[in-house]
Amino acid sequence: MDFTEDTAVAAVKDTIAPDTDPRLAELVGGLVDHLHAYVREVRPTVEEWTAAIEFLTAVGQKCDDTRQEFVLLSDVLGVSMLVETINGQDTGTESTVLGPFHMTESPRREIRDSIDELTGGRDCVVELRVLGADDTPLPGAEVDIWQATAEGFYDVQQPDVQPAGNGRGLFSADDDGRVWFRTVVPSHYPVPTDGPVGDLLGALGRHAFRPAHVHVLATADGHRELTTHLFVAGSSYIDSDAVFAVKKSLIVDFERIEDPEVAARYGLDAGFRLARYDVVLDPARVDVA
Ligand code: BEZ
Ligand code: FE
Repeated sequence: MDFTEDTAVAAVKDTIAPDTDPRLAELVGGLVDHLHAYVREVRPTVEEWTAAIEFLTAVGQKCDDTRQEFVLLSDVLGVSMLVETINGQDTGTESTVLGPFHMTESPRREIRDSIDELTGGRDCVVELRVLGADDTPLPGAEVDIWQATAEGFYDVQQPDVQPAGNGRGLFSADDDGRVWFRTVVPSHYPVPTDGPVGDLLGALGRHAFRPAHVHVLATADGHRELTTHLFVAGSSYIDSDAVFAVKKSLIVDFERIEDPEVAARYGLDAGFRLARYDVVLDPARVDVA
């Protein structure tokens, strides 16, 4: 069979052996279908295709143990978020991207602790309840938290300024499924732009910013793991996240607490911000063999 525009897809897919794992055949076959359709539609020149391959090569070369430029590419093209959305919870809290900064283990901390070791966390309290079906509290649920500073940097980005583990904490929920901790209100910040993905954003006239958020990864026995964020209501870029990760249900009011009685419940003087949120986990999926 001649290799033509009309026969190209079949020429490649016919080479997949009949005893190939069916899911692998579906994943690769689908990629061939869509990649060929893309090429037939946009009709790149040989020079353009070479440039595309050089770009992907540069993306790979930028990756190391602490930098994942391919994940960033998937993020800014909206693919990470599409995969999250397809695989999201059924009825529980909506999930969103993990992002590249969950690369170090969070220090174990007690409820009430400050995750901000630079300021002692007098500016903000985050209070979460981890719930299962019918809003049943999940005591002992594990909640991993990581966030940027009020200047918009993670600890790993500023090893000379921030102690390792700053802005991070691993908590166990109390008997009411509750976890609360002191912190700072994080700032919006740009995704890393010193690589080929940053160059692409620039060439497309796109900004690189993410709205302010706190990352939450919650696990509990018998429940699906949830990766999500709490977005700070009113943050810059809340309507134009560079990685498309905002969902309305995840935007949280970081309310100003001026009442001394409410403040005293958290052992703080009035004049801080309080974010409260219920994290609802779906039951674990039972695999049907
Ligand atoms: C983050 O929220 O940490 C993040 C997510 C995607 C790309 C870059 C950063
Ligand atoms: Fe982040």
